[in-house]
Amino acid sequence: MTQRVRKAVFPAAGQGTRFLPATKVIPKEMLALVDKPIIQYGVEEAIASGIEDIIFVTGRGKVAMEDHFDLSPELDALLEKRGKKELLAVSRGVASLAKISSVRQPEPLGLGHAVLCAKDLVGDEPFAVILPDDVIDAQTPCLKQMIDVFNEKGGSVLATMTIDGPAISAYGVLAGSRDAHNERIYNCSGMVEKPKLEDAPSNQAIIGRYILTPAIFGLLEKTQPGAGGEIQLTDGIKALLREEKVYGYTFEGKRFDAGDKFGMLQATVEFALKRPEFAEKIREYLKGLAL
Ligand code: UTP
Repeated sequence: MTQRVRKAVFPAAGQGTRFLPATKVIPKEMLALVDKPIIQYGVEEAIASGIEDIIFVTGRGKVAMEDHFDLSPELDALLEKRGKKELLAVSRGVASLAKISSVRQPEPLGLGHAVLCAKDLVGDEPFAVILPDDVIDAQTPCLKQMIDVFNEKGGSVLATMTIDGPAISAYGVLAGSRDAHNERIYNCSGMVEKPKLEDAPSNQAIIGRYILTPAIFGLLEKTQPGAGGEIQLTDGIKALLREEKVYGYTFEGKRFDAGDKFGMLQATVEFALKRPEFAEKIREYLKGLAL
C-alpha cells in the first residue's frame, strides 16, 4: 500500500530578485494577489488537497510569512471592539488554516538544497513540494489531482503543463512516454533544463508542484552544485529516476508565475475577474480603457 501524502514543503528562502524593488524588504511570498499574499493561495491549495502539515523553508527577512499565519491578538481585539465581525473572521480564519512549522535555509544554495533542509521535518514518508510563486487556478486543486495520481501509481509525480512553441525554453522539460490508459500521465525517462525548442524532448514543461518519495533526500545529499552553483532539485530528481519510477502529470487548470512581474499582473486581472465583488467593475474598467 502507498503511504499517504500528509506533508507539504514550501521552499521560500529565495531572494525574489525578479520582483525588485518590491522584494527589497518584503518577501515575494507576501506580495498580495488581489487581497491575499501569494503564499496563502498555496497553503489553501495544500489544505484543500488533504495536507495536514505545512513546512516553510525560510531565510533571513522572511518572518512576515510565519507571522501572517499566526494569531494576531492586538488586531483581533481592535476588530472586535469596532464590531467588524466579518474582518475578524477573516483574520482568525488565516491563523487557523494550517499547522505550520518552519526551517531555515541559511544561504540560498538552490531549490534542491531548500528541499533538503526540510528532511528532518518530513521524515521517512512521501511529501509534496509547492513553489509558492506558482499560483494555480483549478477546479480540483492541482495538488489533489497529483495526490490521486500518486495514490494510483505509487511513484513521485511532477506537475507539467503543455507549451507548444519557443516559450518551452524557459522551463525544465519532461522526457518520457504517455501512459496507455491516461493521456495526462507520462512515464518520465528524463528531464532537460531550458532546452531550445528544437531540442525539447516534449511539450511538457515542469512547474512548481511535486510529490516526491523520501529517497530524494539521500540523493540530494549527494548532488553536486549544478547550474548557477546551486544544488538543483532537477538534478536530484534525475538521480531518483535511476532508482524509482517517476511520473509526469499534465494538471487541469491554469498556472500563473506570480514571482514574475508580468505573471503577477496577469494573475491579478484573472483572479479579480473571478471575484463576484470585482468581476463587473473590472470588466467595465477594462472596456473603458478602450485599448
Ligand atoms: P526562484 O527560481 O523563483 O528564485 O526559486 P528566487 O530567488 O526566489 O527568485 P528570483 O528568480 O531571484 O526572482 C523557486 C522557488 O525556490 C525557492 C524560492 O523561494 C522559490 O519559491 N528557493 C530557491 C529557495 O527556497 N532556496 C533557494 O536557494 C532557491
